[in-house]
Amino acid sequence: MIKKLKQSLLAAALAALCGHTHAADVEVLHWWTSGGEAKALAELTKKLEANGHRWRDFSVTGGGGDNAMLLLKTRVVSGYPPMAAQIKGPEIRDWAEDGLLADIGDIAKAGNWDATLPTVVANAMKYEGRYVAAPVNVHRVNWMWINPEVLKKAGVEPPASWDALIASAENIRKAGFIPIAHGGQPWQDFTLFESVALGVGGADFYRKAFVTLDPATLQSATMTKVLDTFKSLRKLIDAGANNREWSAATALVINGKAAVQFMGDWAKGEFARAGKQPGRDYLCLAAPGSDKAYTYNIDSFAFFRQRQDDARKAQADLANALMGAEFQENFNLAKGSIPARTNARMDRFDDCAKRSAEAFRATAQSGGLVPSIAHRMAAPEAVQSAMQAVVSSFFNDPAMNSREAQTRLVQAVSANAPQR
Ligand code: BGC
Repeated sequence: MIKKLKQSLLAAALAALCGHTHAADVEVLHWWTSGGEAKALAELTKKLEANGHRWRDFSVTGGGGDNAMLLLKTRVVSGYPPMAAQIKGPEIRDWAEDGLLADIGDIAKAGNWDATLPTVVANAMKYEGRYVAAPVNVHRVNWMWINPEVLKKAGVEPPASWDALIASAENIRKAGFIPIAHGGQPWQDFTLFESVALGVGGADFYRKAFVTLDPATLQSATMTKVLDTFKSLRKLIDAGANNREWSAATALVINGKAAVQFMGDWAKGEFARAGKQPGRDYLCLAAPGSDKAYTYNIDSFAFFRQRQDDARKAQADLANALMGAEFQENFNLAKGSIPARTNARMDRFDDCAKRSAEAFRATAQSGGLVPSIAHRMAAPEAVQSAMQAVVSSFFNDPAMNSREAQTRLVQAVSANAPQR
């Protein structure tokens, strides 16, 4: 629907493209508004300003980017796209297909991006073989963030399986803590769900379900087990979770109110900003059962086509800044992720980041590397959002059982996937 609307207004949008942009104005849409995210973003604004440009912040609150992507569409259809926007995964191709994105192939060639990026990252940035987006990092999503003090007080070991976590919830509660820190927003429900799917079903199952979108896999007994396990976790969440931001959920772990959070490693940006050390104040472990797998989530920026030379120059500076080795190091130290560039220096990074880099390499070899569905990397946008709606309703509706959710997941795919 939105896509159709977008297409019908495409001509108007293209006609109006950026006649209004001031030479030194770099307007960038993003959703990095938490403490850790803002600290990471400051590295980018600093860099751009050092190049003589003026940063015009277009930030949209709401983790996961659902709000930001809606607002982006509104801006584009009204003829005023920003200069660049945080756009990820298959959506990069959608925007390029609509003819709205600038080809940055020459910048990429001059910077030798093909040799500098892992294949999985480079491929996600291209449309018809040409770069249309620049990556800044790789986030791992299948993490479990633990407050070890809380577990100790509850007399509980870090959970090795989802069932073990469910079994220990009673003790955690009796000791006065919330078992799982969570924010009741559809994307956070979906983030938790994909980690359960990976842990219970494994990487091949995950790929068939969320990348191939295979109806038989969505209807399989394994998926029933995934959904049953996921639903059991609902009871481990506190009553105040409704609509809580993800960073407020991380704060519950940081402040010793909750035992664990399941979230990508942008959560580590919050621990870092609070002065906490991994291994001492908190633990980062792969979500139960998913140690040999890796759900990747690449942050990237795409550039809307510009008419004026100075605007194009500003875009080139932005693209080069995003791919700079020193920038990626500083940015990712604050963001919690690892640099997108291969062979990045990792000596200033903490143990969680080093393990993420190692697991990223190892799982690319083993087949355990899979794109995050909750973070818009795996499926076409319409499918991703329809599946997210099903998963979130299922999680929050005590009357919906796993079989019904499975039927709805299959419908979410068949109604929204492009014909193959
Ligand atoms: C983005 C991260 C961001 C997180 C929370 C994810 O989809 O990739 O960069 O920190 O959402 O907003």
